[in-house]
Amino acid sequence: LSDVQADLSEVLFTPEQIDDKLAELAAVVDADYAGRDPLLVGVLKGAVMVMADFSRHLKMQARMDWMAVSSYGSGTKSSGVVRILKDLDTDLHGRDVLIVEDIIDSGLTLSWLKQNLQSRGAASVEIVALLRKPEAAKVEVDVKYVGFDIPDEFVVGYGLDYDERYRNLRGVGVLAPHVYS
Ligand code: PRP
Ligand code: MN
Ligand code: MG
Repeated sequence: LSDVQADLSEVLFTPEQIDDKLAELAAVVDADYAGRDPLLVGVLKGAVMVMADFSRHLKMQARMDWMAVSSYGSGTKSSGVVRILKDLDTDLHGRDVLIVEDIIDSGLTLSWLKQNLQSRGAASVEIVALLRKPEAAKVEVDVKYVGFDIPDEFVVGYGLDYDERYRNLRGVGVLAPHVYS
């Protein structure tokens, strides 16, 4: 396997920039949820790093649960038809849910997931996402907490994969075309 750094054409965010942004978002979430008992819902597998670091910047205690979902259809892009591979262990009735995601690309996964969790009787469902690609949006998703808006490029690292690789990079970078072409 090649050196992962050599597979990036550009570093978009360093570990320090990511951590500063997550601390900033956590401070806002702490204030917004004061006196409540939110449930953080991480979307496997990409959100693992964001969940780990964002949740540890929170001053409030927060519960944590996980879902794994998969888009139907051929190709690498989501189709909007989502299948639950691993469901929550938590009953959402009356809960304030905060979905934790690494990236919003087409928006199809989050759009479906937000509606799905709302339909379970949650008191509120909001989203925190480290990254968002506005130019790639196929559906508008109301995302309350966004780290960075980025161009529509193939980004990897900090949980984001290409064919299950590069998730363990500490920063986020653009995948060099020679890797996938
Ligand atoms: C990626 C990413 C988001 C989703 C965003 O997950 O982690 O969950 O795609 O895409 P969308 O906005 O176009 O729906 P992926 O399905 O690759 O699974 P993974 O988290 O296991 O990598
Ligand atoms: Mn994902
Ligand atoms: Mg992926």
